[in-house]
Amino acid sequence: MGILGRMVVTVLPLMPKFVVGWVSRRYHAGVNLESALETMTSLSKEGACFTVDVLGEEITTMQEAQFFIEEYNRVLDRIVAEGFDANLSIKPTAFGLLIDPHSAEKSMENILRKAEKNNIFVRLDMEDHRVTQTTIDLVLRLHEMGLKNVGTVLQGRLFRTLDDISDLANQLGQDADHRICKGIYLESSDIAHTDKKSITLATNEAIDAMLQSGAYTAIASHDSKVIEHSLRSLKNMGMGPDIEDPRPNAGNSRIGKGPGYEFQMLLGVRGDIRRKLAKEGHRTRIYLPYGSKWYEYGVRRLRENPDVAWHITKALLMPWSNRR
Ligand code: FDA
Repeated sequence: MGILGRMVVTVLPLMPKFVVGWVSRRYHAGVNLESALETMTSLSKEGACFTVDVLGEEITTMQEAQFFIEEYNRVLDRIVAEGFDANLSIKPTAFGLLIDPHSAEKSMENILRKAEKNNIFVRLDMEDHRVTQTTIDLVLRLHEMGLKNVGTVLQGRLFRTLDDISDLANQLGQDADHRICKGIYLESSDIAHTDKKSITLATNEAIDAMLQSGAYTAIASHDSKVIEHSLRSLKNMGMGPDIEDPRPNAGNSRIGKGPGYEFQMLLGVRGDIRRKLAKEGHRTRIYLPYGSKWYEYGVRRLRENPDVAWHITKALLMPWSNRR
């Protein structure tokens, strides 16, 4: 699998852009906000809610941040005007976290304040290990400023994640709200699990720790092993669709959230599993990226993690294995 993925990544620069565009079209919601809104309208019928992400990440000059500031403001205005059930996802390095952290924080704070007025939650996506602690600290500071509508993402593959869950539970108490995923960045064996089985086991362990910590737990995975494990853990804790969150250490129910947990999946990936979970009554959220930077974003993701190339190739060759 690794070899095939690496082969795809090697030939990628030789492929005409339109071929890459044709393949990647199922994984993003178009190049502009209008196409993203159209996608949301049609997928709302499947009982899903959304996390909207403006494609792009690490900028090299602070001027580039202006694009993201303006675009996220436009997204917020439209979500509110059209009444979509949607959150936002932000990549802190796209706002300049690695260049001018103070100004990046101010820009994100402004977006959060506007989102808060409209009961919209904002997730700070987790990027690679260079910004793990900075992103967590940022969330803690924003909470100290009174902004409770923000949370970040913890990555099951990192050794530190169980400690982070417990520290965040101590510091944020009932306001803790995290997304838990395996982690897309291939980190070194000094700080992370590197084989598939250990990553899956560690992610499952993190999901259990998060549920027990009282945090709102957004389970972001398409892996049946992770989803089935989560369903068993939820059942053991007396949690499930239409059941008020029974955990004594959990926060009050919040607008747009499930009963202490939800499932999240990427647009275009394992739609059959998502629809089944939604049909069973679980809150399911689709991560919906859009924007003109789809090519750069896609190529970078493939280079970072050749497994993604294999997943996409498999979806093309065996379409029954992955329905949009
Ligand atoms: P796994 O990789 O084993 O995939 C299980 C199956 O799902 C595959 O066999 C394949 O069929 C399908 N599949 C998975 N990914 C696919 C793809 N891209 N294309 C086609 N098929 C695919 N990571 C991170 O580091 N920071 C973050 O903030 C986030 N945010 C995030 C949000 C949401 C909603 C999701 C679902 C995922 C993330 N991730 C992330 C990515 C995550 O860490 C992880 O890399 C991917 O979800 C793949 O891991 P799975 O648990 O799906 O298992």
